[in-house]
Amino acid sequence: MENKDLVVSLNRMLSQEHACAIRYATHAAVVAGPYAEVVATRLKEIATDEVLHAEKLRGRILALGGVPTMDVRAEDLKPASTLEDILEVNIAEEEDAIRSYTAILDQLPLSNVILFQTIQEIIRDEQEHLEELEALRLPK
Ligand SMILES: [Fe+2]
Ligand SMILES: [Fe+2]
Repeated sequence: MENKDLVVSLNRMLSQEHACAIRYATHAAVVAGPYAEVVATRLKEIATDEVLHAEKLRGRILALGGVPTMDVRAEDLKPASTLEDILEVNIAEEEDAIRSYTAILDQLPLSNVILFQTIQEIIRDEQEHLEELEALRLPK
C-alpha cells in the first residue's frame, strides 16, 4: 500500500475511533439497572482506550506525511440505553473494528515495524474489549 492510501485508511479508522470514544462515554453515562455501576466503569475504561487508539493513529498518520482527520464517523455513533442493547451495539462495533484493522494489517509490509506493531496493539485491545463485553452479557 502506498503512503497516500495508507493515510486514507488510517484516517477512516481515526474517524471511527473518535465515534467509539463518544459512543462508549455516552453509553457509560446512560446505562441503568442493577449492573450499571460495574458496566459503566468498564465502558469508561474502554472509552479511554479508544482515545488512546486515536492518539496512536494520529502519530502514525503524521509519520506518513498525512493530516489527521477530525471527522467523526456518524454511522458508528449508535445510541442505546438498555444494558442488552449497549452490549450488542458495542460487540458489533468491536467486531467491525477488528475486521477493518485486520484488513489494513494484511496489506502492510512486516518491515514497516512501527506501523505494523501499532495496528497489532490496537487489534489486541479491540479483541480484549470484545471478550470483556461478551463476558458482561447476561445468559439468555
Ligand atoms: Fe479502538
Ligand atoms: Fe474497542
